[in-house]
Amino acid sequence: MTLDELNRKFAEVPARHKEVSIIASMDDEPARPSRRLMDIALKAVSVAIDVALPIYEGRASREPHWFDTWPGEHYRLLAALVRTLKPKTVIEIGTFTGMGTLALAQELQPSGTLTTFDLLAWNSFADTWLAPADFSEGRVRQVLHDISTPGGIEPHRALFESADLIFVDGPKDGRTEADILVNLSTLNLSRDAVVVFDDIRVVNMIDIWRRVAQPKMDLTSFGHWSGTGLIDWNGTSDL
Ligand SMILES: C[S@@+](CC[C@H](N)C(=O)[O-])C[C@H]1O[C@@H](n2cnc3c(N)ncnc32)[C@H](O)[C@@H]1O
Repeated sequence: MTLDELNRKFAEVPARHKEVSIIASMDDEPARPSRRLMDIALKAVSVAIDVALPIYEGRASREPHWFDTWPGEHYRLLAALVRTLKPKTVIEIGTFTGMGTLALAQELQPSGTLTTFDLLAWNSFADTWLAPADFSEGRVRQVLHDISTPGGIEPHRALFESADLIFVDGPKDGRTEADILVNLSTLNLSRDAVVVFDDIRVVNMIDIWRRVAQPKMDLTSFGHWSGTGLIDWNGTSDL
């Protein structure tokens, strides 16, 4: 296909937001899902069908209600993953306006904690969904720190090594997520840790996702339209 033909095809697609992506064969992809990951995905999707997200009600943000779109946006899947996995320790990388933070927080068990990392404070975003009360019990906290730099994850080693669910939703600049994966691989994540990556079909992320060698699966049709990937960090591909 010529570039002109590709541009024509692109223009024909009636969508508010569209990007060029790359599709790649699976027969030569060694990282198959584990049975456990498949099971988690199936359970979480069946929870997501019915999960409501009352946590956003009455909040002041003027952002579009992306959380109302499912499938297509990942918020119901995030809440469903927490309800399914019942994690004690959840980590999010990339707080932004807190939409993901709240979806994860809504289903946290009373003894669970959620730490959300960003480089910018949650209250520096004019359209934040978050409020001081979200942090008042200490179960949800924000940490301003770049865990993608060399050695950057070390100050938070114990937290990451205790995590059951890690949601990586950073800048997708073609570098940060790869660096986060390198840093995560220096840790002994817990046996059952599940790592979720956003935007795995965005061009900057395709190669990074493809190189993940652990059991993994693309759950885009039940998550974010730009790509949602699940990794069974310490699992074995047994399917
Ligand atoms: C796509 S937004 C996160 C969206 C949010 N998780 C959600 O589900 O609605 C990406 C965020 O990553 C933050 N970010 C950029 N580089 C980062 C880094 N190295 N570590 C942590 N957060 C970073 C940006 O400031 C931005 O707030």
